[in-house]
Amino acid sequence: MTDITAPDILLNEVLARYSDSPNPRMKQVMESFIRHIHAFARDIELQREEWLEGIKWLTATGKICSETRQEFILLSDTIGLSMLVEIMAESGEGVTEATVLGPFFAPDSPERAKGESMLLDPDDGDLVVVRGRVTDVDGNPIANAVLDCWQSNTAGWYAVQQHPSSSTNNLRGIYRTDENGEYEIRSVRPGPYPIPSDGPVGDLLKANNRGWMRPGHLHVWLHADGFKELITHLFDSTSSHIEDDAVFGVRESLIVEFTPDATGELEAIYNFALDKA
Ligand code: BEZ
Ligand code: FE
Repeated sequence: MTDITAPDILLNEVLARYSDSPNPRMKQVMESFIRHIHAFARDIELQREEWLEGIKWLTATGKICSETRQEFILLSDTIGLSMLVEIMAESGEGVTEATVLGPFFAPDSPERAKGESMLLDPDDGDLVVVRGRVTDVDGNPIANAVLDCWQSNTAGWYAVQQHPSSSTNNLRGIYRTDENGEYEIRSVRPGPYPIPSDGPVGDLLKANNRGWMRPGHLHVWLHADGFKELITHLFDSTSSHIEDDAVFGVRESLIVEFTPDATGELEAIYNFALDKA
């Protein structure tokens, strides 16, 4: 029996007991996790009362989770972990940058014709068109690529949050590229909005004097045969909170400007590049 008289002896004993995992990845994950969590506790000189507070907070975070609410993902988003995972997973040169998925994606959006508007409900915001091409990294067009889109309205609400007072399919739709790889989405300028702040993650943000707003953006989940899928957003350059997105999702390359086109419509042009699978 090891006499556990000091933190280092304890750490070595814990690591030894996790050293027989038959799964090498599990072994690697657990070893690193144990090393880091011990180092963290020692670094901040964790007190028993603080540790209990932490356990209470994690318990509350678990309890508020449901089919429609994932507070742990929100935690991951607000400490930058979700974005870190996206950045580390990124493909090579020339591929459009990714950002977080977020909780408001709903499967089975309706198919929409090229240029059709996905705005179904009354909205007093700016009507916009987003158009461009989907290509491979060498600029070759990808025909029949799928752009699964969803966004908030001018007031900052997603249809999934407002149902049944908004149409189920308001501001969501599946667009496809034509034979030249071109797509065209009609919509309204997406409004900035607060991430859910009425739970343990909101309490944490408030306790740290942190904001919980996201800038206006259009979510796009792209799929195309033979290519890696891409989950990203296009951000409105004029939106508030571009500089302090609560989930660290804004990337310079994803900011678009809406300017009048030849017909006076407010358009943003954006070309997506996908990586081969
Ligand atoms: C969103 O963009 O929909 C979102 C992302 C992360 C947290 C909350 C919302
Ligand atoms: Fe969003």
